Amino acid sequence: MQKKIALTGIKPTGIPHIGNYIGAIKPALKLAETCEARYFIADYHALNALKDPKALKELTYEIAAAWLACGLDPAKVLFYKQSQVPETFELLTILLAFTPKGLMNRAHAYKAFVQANKESGTDLDDGVNMGLYTYPVLMAADILLFDTDYVPVGNDQFQHIEMAVDIAESFNYIYQTQALHIPAPLATEQTKIVVGLDGRKMSKSYNNTIPLFATEKELKKLIMRIVTNSQTVEEPKDPDTCSIFGLYRYFATPEQLEDLHRRYLAGGMGWGHAKTELFEVMNSVLSPLRSRYQALMHNKDYIDEVLWQGSQKARVLAANKIRSLRHLIGID
Ligand code: TRP
Repeated sequence: MQKKIALTGIKPTGIPHIGNYIGAIKPALKLAETCEARYFIADYHALNALKDPKALKELTYEIAAAWLACGLDPAKVLFYKQSQVPETFELLTILLAFTPKGLMNRAHAYKAFVQANKESGTDLDDGVNMGLYTYPVLMAADILLFDTDYVPVGNDQFQHIEMAVDIAESFNYIYQTQALHIPAPLATEQTKIVVGLDGRKMSKSYNNTIPLFATEKELKKLIMRIVTNSQTVEEPKDPDTCSIFGLYRYFATPEQLEDLHRRYLAGGMGWGHAKTELFEVMNSVLSPLRSRYQALMHNKDYIDEVLWQGSQKARVLAANKIRSLRHLIGID
């Protein structure tokens, strides 16, 4: 049976944190074991908000190095850079002609922007560039260019996938064709339960994250900052409501997990001790990733080469798709 195609875009917005690793990177790499995976750096999506050339370049290296360090194998996953597959932008132009303006008016990201303007009393369109406004169409182009079956994303992106479906269906209906393959979102549902240092969901906007490649020292310091309750050492503790245990479960072996679970319930173990145990398991999992990441960041030529090679392969597929679409619409 032919493998399903999984595709996702990674916006270069900074070094991932533990929540991204557990909620997005690990599940996507797992999915790549059973699907034909196409993962790319969405650098043109980042341009809408980021106009600092040095930063954009550096963030692109960082995110590519991060995924490679976490085990993305470019021999198995088609790993490329959106900007190096210009067919994307031709498909964007095509899709724009099938996208009702009203659909874009409903996009959450755009609406949030307008709402913020409303609240601060500025012009509603202030700071809204057309890239932000048509963001979902570029995303639809990314997806539809590669006959994608599944798009693994967090639920904040679901609306965008639904829009890609709407646009594709409208195109298919008008030409009475199946030329655009209809994608489906795939929830990376674990994201929700990765808690941050303060007990809330780990998120950059809460400033409660643990960076994935923090040095050993930083990692220890951050873990020691995890907020706990005022239970004494003697008291039995509840692993299920504990942030320390919540993180521990993602890094420990089943035996370690069972052992710590038992010691929580038995009492006699203080929070400091639990934190030390957490540090040890996390550090043993993360330290090889950290070294690989550092090595990659010292070898940017290699990153360039990987992305270039991937992009060339992606272009072959993309060019075929564009050729058939051009034919359909009468432009060839
Ligand atoms: N919009 C996504 C995000 O902000 C990134 C992205 C761009 C994407 N193109 C995509 C995700 C295509 C999935 C499919 O995270």
